[in-house]
Amino acid sequence: MFGHRVGCLDAASSANMETLVGKTRPTLAIHDPPYNFIAFDLRTTEAFIDWSRKWIQITYDLLSDNASMYIWLGADQKQHYEPLPQFMLMMGETKFQSRSFITMRNQRGYGTQKNWMAIRQELLYYIKGNPQFYVDAEYTDVPKVLKGYYKEVAGKITENSERSKSEYIRAGNVWIDIQQVFYRMHENVNGCFAQKPIKAIDRIVRASSAPGDVVIDFFAHSGATLLACELLKRRCLTVDIDPIYCEITIRRLENFRQTGNLGWQNSNPFSQDLTMEMTNGAKQGKEIYEDLFGFP
Ligand SMILES: C[S@@+](CC[C@H](N)C(=O)[O-])C[C@H]1O[C@@H](n2cnc3c(N)ncnc32)[C@H](O)[C@@H]1O
Repeated sequence: MFGHRVGCLDAASSANMETLVGKTRPTLAIHDPPYNFIAFDLRTTEAFIDWSRKWIQITYDLLSDNASMYIWLGADQKQHYEPLPQFMLMMGETKFQSRSFITMRNQRGYGTQKNWMAIRQELLYYIKGNPQFYVDAEYTDVPKVLKGYYKEVAGKITENSERSKSEYIRAGNVWIDIQQVFYRMHENVNGCFAQKPIKAIDRIVRASSAPGDVVIDFFAHSGATLLACELLKRRCLTVDIDPIYCEITIRRLENFRQTGNLGWQNSNPFSQDLTMEMTNGAKQGKEIYEDLFGFP
């Protein structure tokens, strides 16, 4: 519909990413690399940073002159918050400008008994050139409740809420209004352990792009960026190195177009008989998915 593309490609290969982007010039990149803990292969922080340098440079070269880039990142509190500080220092050596250090508050966390519950999810915002920022997108759906900040405007004492443009609080750079994805949510995609909420991607896409713009995401996984772009009429070019996640990403979009569902909740991406013919990739994906995750 919008000319989205899903590639089974390597984010760190400039030839691969040039193939993905072709002649288009994206204005927004949303990347969620596999950081070192939980589900992904363990590698040293140095190796992670060296590898990140590559796809960051590729992103810089492919983005239009005025563009935004958002990167989801974790910080391991048991390992000096790796790889966040190293990543930030590496970014300082690039031509990107830092713009905001956003934290999304997760509702569920870990480590409540012997430590502060870990509930943060970091999101770094960088720019190239001077991109548009659409302020309207910044408001949350949380109504303002705090009152009592008075100021004199044109001889009249006014209360905070009278002066502001909206009755809702602004998102700022600490997002507290987004539910992280879990199995009971409509948008849940079983087997995708690192799925980002559509609401978070929606906020980024609205704030940093316009309808018709091209958005890139080098780490598709559950296809959350692709789906948000479909909903907001942006064109998404996305890749994942793992054929299963490429297939899931495609099937999530097809499922949405056919049923309007954002995910599969308790079911899974290969449980349905979509009316489309199952491609060889999908058949293979179904078998591998079954091996890995089983069917509920
Ligand atoms: C943290 S997940 C992305 C989650 C995604 N934002 C979502 O909401 O579903 C990272 C993904 O990167 C993929 N990946 C790892 N190395 C890659 C590479 N070199 N190129 C492209 N994708 C890669 C993994 O297969 C994994 O699906």
